[in-house]
Amino acid sequence: MADDRAIINAASEARVCLDFGTAFSKASVRIAGLARPLAIGAAANSDHPFLTPSVMFVDDGRITFGPMALARAQIAVSGRDPILSFKTILAARDLEQALTLKVKPSIDPTGTLRQRDALILYLAYLDQLIRTALHSDPALADAGPTERRRYTSPIWRTHVEGDRVMGRLFDEAAIVSADLGALLTAPNGVSIAHARAALDKAETALGLGQLESGVFEAHAAAAAYAAFAQAPKRFLLVFDMGAGTTDFAGFERLGGDDQLLSEIAEARQSCGLAGDEIDDIIAHLMMAKLKSKQRDVQSDVWRALRLHVRDFKKELFEAGRCAFSGYGVKLQLKRRELLASSRFKDYVSALTAIAATSVKAVAVRARAASSPEITILLAGGGANLSFLAPLAQAAAKQGDPSVAAVVERFGIDWRLPAGVDSRLASVMPQVAISLGGALADLDRGGHPVAG
Ligand SMILES: Nc1ncnc2c1ncn2[C@@H]1O[C@H](COP(=O)(O)OP(=O)(O)OP(=O)(O)O)[C@@H](O)[C@H]1O
Ligand SMILES: [Mg+2]
Repeated sequence: MADDRAIINAASEARVCLDFGTAFSKASVRIAGLARPLAIGAAANSDHPFLTPSVMFVDDGRITFGPMALARAQIAVSGRDPILSFKTILAARDLEQALTLKVKPSIDPTGTLRQRDALILYLAYLDQLIRTALHSDPALADAGPTERRRYTSPIWRTHVEGDRVMGRLFDEAAIVSADLGALLTAPNGVSIAHARAALDKAETALGLGQLESGVFEAHAAAAAYAAFAQAPKRFLLVFDMGAGTTDFAGFERLGGDDQLLSEIAEARQSCGLAGDEIDDIIAHLMMAKLKSKQRDVQSDVWRALRLHVRDFKKELFEAGRCAFSGYGVKLQLKRRELLASSRFKDYVSALTAIAATSVKAVAVRARAASSPEITILLAGGGANLSFLAPLAQAAAKQGDPSVAAVVERFGIDWRLPAGVDSRLASVMPQVAISLGGALADLDRGGHPVAG
């Protein structure tokens, strides 16, 4: 591993890769061929130094972001919906048209913000966090220009089309970030009027063209594996369970020093059976225990459950049970109740079948090469869920019983970037995508490609 001086000397190559996931945003910087995660979570005062919730909240004439948005949503009486899934906007068939639509009234009742405005403001917020994180990492103190940007995308859009539209958004976000500065990370956020004025100004300004490219998420994952795994294996299936989607991509490592990866296109799949779906099952199971028939209690409890359900899921899998109390109500759920529920069982069998299809495609290639062993790499926050490794094993058996499958959690036994906070290890499956996205060699398949 090169020392920090080497990192600084090649500063001109620096680029930052953003992964604004459905649940959490992450960012990494690449300098001199090495990638380092950025502590944007610490910059945001988030629970984890490397993760910040992808949330924006509009209330009381103000817009807040990240953990502050979540905190305000949890105490707000307005019942407003804080969650804005940027991924849903980006997944639209006609991206340009989707961006011009107004944000849902349940999020912004003032009707001030279009989807593109929300995305620009959120990117501007992330830009502030990135700047703070870059300054707070001693290894990057003299890093020089770090304006170049990439973002990871689960969408197989053509390089040119997606990046032209996104490039403009990144440019406007940089202008808004410079204009609003620390207001974006202030506990009270920024007033809607002030934000609107900054957005209007940015829309007519000339941009710097910071965006280098989008990177297909599975390719980013594979690039991280090739760069950080101690002994990368030849055939691999990336099984990335995030909050919004679970994505599969298969690769063959062609060997050599440059870690060339060739994608096994038949293994590529994306489905909505991810963390949010489990959250929905959990929230419904808890809601079914509510005895009160009062409409207002029901809607208050439902909203509170939705706002806390990610924590409940974590508790449920770690401690075997979770509990909600509020509005004069106490609700408990045990892990075995979740596992025994018909909706969860259906979820597991549907996801197993989907994963089996991808395993099969990788296995065909592995057997053709007389190398009947494949590695299934669990990535994303879902890698923390205890049922996922056995599910992957079951999928391997279902997909091709003659192939030996090794299930690995992203980051186990990997070489972590030198001098980075040791808490990275616990979120490596989530942060790896931005690390790999910062590193990915785009001439060798890092681009999101046409689907
Ligand atoms: N320790 C944990 N235990 C249980 N679930 C977890 C844990 N950590 C993260 N998760 C879950 O993982 C998901 C977030 O993972 P990740 O950060 O990979 O998603 P994302 O990138 O935001 O989503 P997507 O890629 O779908 O847009 C959430 O559903 C979250 O609840
Ligand atoms: Mg993700």
